[in-house]
Amino acid sequence: MHPKAEGMSTPLLIQALQGQTTTRPPVWFMRQAGRYLPEYRELRAKAPDFIAFCMNPEMAAEATLQPMRRFGFDAAIVFADILLIPGALGQKVWFEAGEGPRLGALPSVESMRELASGAGEALKSVGQTLSLVRAELDPAKALIGFAGAPWTVATYMLDGEARTIGKGERAAARTYAYAEPEKVAALLEVLVESTAHYLKMQQDAGAQVLKIFESWAEGLPDDLFKSLVLKPHQALVARARALGVTVPLIGFPRGSAALAERYAAECDVQAVALDTACPLEVGKRVQAIKPIQGALDPLLLRAGGDALDRRVDQLMEAWGQGPWIFNLGHGILPDVPIAHVEQVLRRIGAQ
Ligand code: CP3
Repeated sequence: MHPKAEGMSTPLLIQALQGQTTTRPPVWFMRQAGRYLPEYRELRAKAPDFIAFCMNPEMAAEATLQPMRRFGFDAAIVFADILLIPGALGQKVWFEAGEGPRLGALPSVESMRELASGAGEALKSVGQTLSLVRAELDPAKALIGFAGAPWTVATYMLDGEARTIGKGERAAARTYAYAEPEKVAALLEVLVESTAHYLKMQQDAGAQVLKIFESWAEGLPDDLFKSLVLKPHQALVARARALGVTVPLIGFPRGSAALAERYAAECDVQAVALDTACPLEVGKRVQAIKPIQGALDPLLLRAGGDALDRRVDQLMEAWGQGPWIFNLGHGILPDVPIAHVEQVLRRIGAQ
């Protein structure tokens, strides 16, 4: 047991997810481990291959803990990537320096179906990372596991196929979803199954909260939002629950503020993460349905100054009665000054 474990109350993040109004919002930042931290850059330099870095429990646990030591956020998020799942399904994934992810040919649906229920086992090293982090982490801090949502992961997996009928990464996948709806539906089903097993493994290894990243819910017309986002999320939540997942789930349908209330009402996640462009009044309406998370502009965190203080105050004013988890509207950028992160934490009384 951690030396401070005795007499600890429930972590602030868990309180907010249970719908309680907390004395101040719990705070953590998407991509809080990463290149804006010199200690991360130093660690990363020892592992030039990003996937191998994610799959190395000692290194990934160290990356997870770095922002906790420096800032004392209310939650740690396991250091991993949404693109580990395609690897577990037999698709080659690698990161091209300065360019981002690249994926090999899409395996057949049959071969991926065979691997789906083994995804948790295949990605057990992420579970080892979670266990290592939990052993080190102050019990007052929550530990978050995560996975990419089916559609977002599919947009990367389809890259090769989709490129033949459209230009640009995500636009091509969307064109493909119109042209080949059955193929896309079959892929989403495989992703629901594999991701549910992956999430269960993370809970078993110590994750107390699980987040589903739908980074490419953006720009979908409402019928596609239903078939590519809402339905697969509902299926994923149901399948994860059937496998024994009991911890709170946070859904992040990024870029879909106009549909956020519908998502909150119809998808059985415990909280909805909102993105930068979500209007404050929409956030309030979602908050009337369930706890929300978000949504400071990552570019404002980069800019700093009075504008940063003013927006933090606005968010506090609009959403501060809770339940609300303070976060960014998208991931932290590599060139964010550390002093600006500290400025936010002081402003909301977390440091
Ligand atoms: O938040 C955290 O601190 C936990 C770790 C985490 C990473 N990726 C580490 C990472 C999480 C939660 C993710 C999620 C992720 N990965 C998403 C969803 C969230 C979002 O940002 O929309 C997506 C779309 C990916 C896929 C991905 N991974 C891309 C497109 C890239 C390249 C772009 C970039 O920022 O370099 C990555 C790489 C990646 N994942 C890095 C980190 C810290 C940077 C890699 C490096 O250190 O060189």
